[in-house]
Amino acid sequence: MWKISGILLLLQLLQGALTLDNGLARTPPMGWMSWQRFRCITDCKSYPDECISESLFRRHADLLADEGYAEAGYEYVIIDDCWLEKNRDTKTNKLVADLKRFPSGLNALADHIHDRGLKFGLYQDFGTHTCAGYPGVINHMELDAQTFADWQVDYVKLDGCYANISDMAVGYPEFGRLLNHTGRPMVYSCSWPAYQEPNGEMPDYESLKQHCNLWRNWDDIDDSLESLLQITDYFAKNQDRIQPHGGPGHWNDPDMLLLGNYGLSYDQSKLQMAIWAIMAAPLIMSNDLASVRPEIKDILQNRHVIAVNQDPLGIQGRRLLVKNNIEVWRRPITPEAPSGEYSYALAFVSRRTDGAPYSISFTLKELYLNNLKGYGVQDLYKNNLDMGVFGLESQFKTRVIPNGVTFFKFTAL
Ligand code: GLA
Repeated sequence: MWKISGILLLLQLLQGALTLDNGLARTPPMGWMSWQRFRCITDCKSYPDECISESLFRRHADLLADEGYAEAGYEYVIIDDCWLEKNRDTKTNKLVADLKRFPSGLNALADHIHDRGLKFGLYQDFGTHTCAGYPGVINHMELDAQTFADWQVDYVKLDGCYANISDMAVGYPEFGRLLNHTGRPMVYSCSWPAYQEPNGEMPDYESLKQHCNLWRNWDDIDDSLESLLQITDYFAKNQDRIQPHGGPGHWNDPDMLLLGNYGLSYDQSKLQMAIWAIMAAPLIMSNDLASVRPEIKDILQNRHVIAVNQDPLGIQGRRLLVKNNIEVWRRPITPEAPSGEYSYALAFVSRRTDGAPYSISFTLKELYLNNLKGYGVQDLYKNNLDMGVFGLESQFKTRVIPNGVTFFKFTAL
């Protein structure tokens, strides 16, 4: 008996040492990251307000804190690619932040971000180089994990350019272990599925769940509706394989929010925010927060939509059905009714382009809603406007504009 429990204890300890298990990201991480909007602009003379530099991240930390974003839940300020010197320090081999663009060093920047009540994220790459050609972590993993901890990093995005794809299934967990070993809790964002799958290797989601807090499943998002829909189509088509693996501490990541940039209209911005809430996706903005228009800021800070995204059950939603080119996306959320049925968030996404708003009706049964006492319905994009109680035989009607969305909470009674 003692022998068996001793072995079990040892196995548990080993498991603890081998998995990430850092207690972080119990709900999808929220924050701001530089890549989508600012890419690899390094010319600070021509573009002083846009180049990847300490001033960009200080300003964005201030804007998150001062403009209501932090209060709405956005927490991480994440430096993406192009922050490094082209070479490591010749004596210590340590990574060096670009000396001209980050003259005060990353510790000073981390202090500023932390002083504003926010958390600090940093990008690196598992290979020899980052995607933009700066030094990667391979061959220096232990040193770099410790350097990240010394810089007071709270979130690491580890990309996968210039790397052997066949090494990733072992190498990514190893870097996560090294991060943990520093004793500093760091959210760990992995990119290995986004490299494996296009190369014909199916990602091992059980391993991802154990070793990463979030992972990029698929292609980079670009600043257009076309790119956004290509990603949502990928997630919908592959949902049987992907959706079950999202949950507290481990999330699928369809990439950054485009809101506030050039490519999406007002209604398309609502569309991205709604689908990201249904998908339990990390809400990582990438925009110029100084110039986000007030109506887009309202979408980004919509508390009812954010509450769906951050729902404590942490169950990722799915595309439930498509009827007349209207997609219905659905996610189980709190509160659960006394009957044990979940409440649901439901988004009606129009893929129609034929002009007029399109009216469509469903019985609740058609939406696979089964709570015998029915549901109280609120319109999440109309400040939770109460739409009354719907029984299982009632028709629920909504009117969706081309490439638009309507978004509701069905509370099980
Ligand atoms: C890859 C990633 C992007 C971004 C760039 C930076 O393409 O998927 O999110 O980090 O690299 O070079």
